[in-house]
Amino acid sequence: MKRVYVWTLPTRLFHWLFVLLIIASLISTEEDRWLNIHAAIGSAVGALVLFRIVWGIIGPRYSRFGDFHLSIDALKEYLLSLLNPSRRTIGHNPAASYVMVAMLSTVVLAVSSGMLAYGIAENRGLLASLHTGFFQDMEIFEEIHEFFVNLLWVLIAAHVGGVLVDRLLHKEDRTLNSIIDGHKNMEGESATLSWYQKVVALIGIGGTIALLVYALTTPNNPLIAGYNKKVDYAKVNPVFVNECGSCHTLYPPSLLPRESWVKLMGDLSNHFGDDASLDSADQQSIREYLLAHSAETSTQEMSFKMMQSLEKRDMIAITQTPFWKKRHKHISEEIFKSDKVKSRANCKVCHSDVEEGRIEDSAIKILPIGGNG
Ligand code: HEC
Ligand code: HEC
Repeated sequence: MKRVYVWTLPTRLFHWLFVLLIIASLISTEEDRWLNIHAAIGSAVGALVLFRIVWGIIGPRYSRFGDFHLSIDALKEYLLSLLNPSRRTIGHNPAASYVMVAMLSTVVLAVSSGMLAYGIAENRGLLASLHTGFFQDMEIFEEIHEFFVNLLWVLIAAHVGGVLVDRLLHKEDRTLNSIIDGHKNMEGESATLSWYQKVVALIGIGGTIALLVYALTTPNNPLIAGYNKKVDYAKVNPVFVNECGSCHTLYPPSLLPRESWVKLMGDLSNHFGDDASLDSADQQSIREYLLAHSAETSTQEMSFKMMQSLEKRDMIAITQTPFWKKRHKHISEEIFKSDKVKSRANCKVCHSDVEEGRIEDSAIKILPIGGNG
């Protein structure tokens, strides 16, 4: 039996690195606090796919787009002759060629929409400059990203399905093994690599791994850096800190709308069962500060989503708002009641940055009691 070398090492490395990165990117969506890891992995996926596109243009035989069979006639002919054992393709068969092109395009769209959503909703990463202009559309961009990611899974399923069908119909070709050792049992001309192809592969694959390590290990690198400003409340408004941070977490004014603050500040003597009344000068100055920095004035994701979720604009318990409830619904009662947390309203135990006026996913703390998510 003849053997032909179809997939050179760079093509196989691309394939397996891609598999690993896609699995890692899926796992990294499990917890909100891993969002930066998700973005780092997504950036590596972007780099790897760029390499694959370059490889499709200047790469070796069979991996080149020029060798893909992208005509409707070829596809028809291929599908009609599926059961014919003498019908073989060395590289990508017509059906696989379409799936490959669809997959590569979808990955490009998934990565770019992910970067857009990350920049626009989270004010992070390379596209954070779009946050201020487009924050009101953050949910649309998040949905677009999810759409392309779901489409990618459909295509991955089609790809795996195709390989399994091929395995059943043309077992002797060893197509499945070929992505491991590079060879198929067929007659044909083997793929070879020129020196410059080797250089491009080294840059592409090595560059992807280097980018991933850099993005994961360098704090505040441009791929994941966040631009939501830290507020030093003690400096800008010490009265607010002393009065409103003495019994509980200092809730950022940008977490509730104007009307909520008006209502809350109008009834401090009956404040969640406590008397939090102040002299009228302090009361007045805190009220003004809260109104000037309420959720309406902020572009942050937490403020925007809080506003979106509120039908009644005068709720005063953050923990009763639909947005808060939705974000914390999978945290058990046991955790909130634990000695460490005590109350749902004790935000700062879990959100290390809440008293800086922001709630970043990466600043969500893991609690020692069986996780918190
Ligand atoms: C004397 C203590 C005390 C002071 C002072 C105080 N609070 Fe409170 N506050 C409470 C208590 C008790 C609760 C209920 C907390 C809980 O549910 O665990 C609460 C709850 C809240 C909540 C709702 C939290 C939730 O459940 O979502 C907000 C908002 C709030 N306070 C804002 C303020 C502001 C603004 C000030 C300053 C003007 C202030 N508080 C001063 C005792 C105080
Ligand atoms: C017991 C820990 C805990 C407490 C207490 C807690 N949170 Fe959270 N919060 C979390 C976790 C965990 C998540 C992430 C949920 C997920 O992964 O879907 C989260 C998510 C959020 C988010 C969404 C962040 C984002 O960008 O997606 C906001 C906003 C938030 N919390 C605000 C608050 C506020 C305000 C309080 C206090 C009133 C509070 N949380 C109290 C654990 C807590």
